[in-house]
Amino acid sequence: MMESPFKADIVKGQVVLITGGGSGIGFEISTQFGKHGASVAIMGRRKQVLDSAVSTLHSFGIKAVGFEGDVRKQEDAIRVVESTFKHFGKIDILVNAAAGNFLVSAEDLSPNGFRTVMDIDSVGTFTMCHAALKYLKKGGQGRDSASGGIIINISATLHYTASWYQIHVSAAKAAVDSITRNLALEWGTDYNIRVNGIAPGPIGDTPGMSKLAPDDIDSKARDFMPLYKLGEKWDIAIAALYLASNAGKYINGTVLVVDGGLWLSRPRHIPKVAVKQVSRAVEKRSRNAPVGVPTSKL
Ligand code: COA
Repeated sequence: MMESPFKADIVKGQVVLITGGGSGIGFEISTQFGKHGASVAIMGRRKQVLDSAVSTLHSFGIKAVGFEGDVRKQEDAIRVVESTFKHFGKIDILVNAAAGNFLVSAEDLSPNGFRTVMDIDSVGTFTMCHAALKYLKKGGQGRDSASGGIIINISATLHYTASWYQIHVSAAKAAVDSITRNLALEWGTDYNIRVNGIAPGPIGDTPGMSKLAPDDIDSKARDFMPLYKLGEKWDIAIAALYLASNAGKYINGTVLVVDGGLWLSRPRHIPKVAVKQVSRAVEKRSRNAPVGVPTSKL
């Protein structure tokens, strides 16, 4: 485990509710927020996963509680938000980390499969934000009111271009980024609530990676993607802490890409050495060319 670059009290006294906080990236976010002073409520569908996550958090000395619930159900969202408030007395930070995913070609994906992921990722994120608003408002309305709460939505980079076999997740994460920006505008202006997102690249040792890049696919991807390397759950959790801490007090409506630059990668069409030679040669030819004669004709 990497040592934290932050002081151990940067979110001290804060109460954070994390959906999908019992496993994968969500659990690392729970752990890091807890280790930096926050009280942590985690929401998830599976009791066993929640119980074991909470007991691990307790073993680190973190104040933690788990609430069963499915972000697709509005009544669950409302109940879990209320329970978190009852348990800790307030809610300062909401992290939407719950997500659903599987690889499937568009042709083989049923509309219900598409809808299922939209429901979890996009509608679920909005539903949780909506349910938590009354607690995140805090200091009342207006720009001069006391600072409000914080929302962090976990999305992806899939939709920046296009992604094979991920049409449902691409669409869902595009909607999540949209929700982030629109709430940043509306709730930032009205309630001083900061709403930001994180777009993780491929993160090792997560349910997402084991579904999307089984070992054999993974090794092939490394061959044709020059920047390909896996991130760690820690990278995402520390980015979330940065956004939630006072270091991020002027950051609102941004989606921080944490992927080592991977989404920008593409094959080189010319080797680096060739660029040096070819580019100079072309310049020289064009400098000596009579005006009006295209360099291709020289
Ligand atoms: N390929 C194609 N379609 C699939 C699929 C797959 N691998 N897995 C599920 N679907 C389809 C189902 O066929 C169904 O559509 P249909 O009714 O038209 O047949 C629809 O998706 C819903 O499936 P169901 O199994 O009922 O959903 P669920 O609510 O039990 O589970 C999932 C939701 C499918 C997203 C499940 O993977 C999940 O719970 N994931 C959470 C954990 C996770 O994915 N973490 C990674 C985050 S990156």
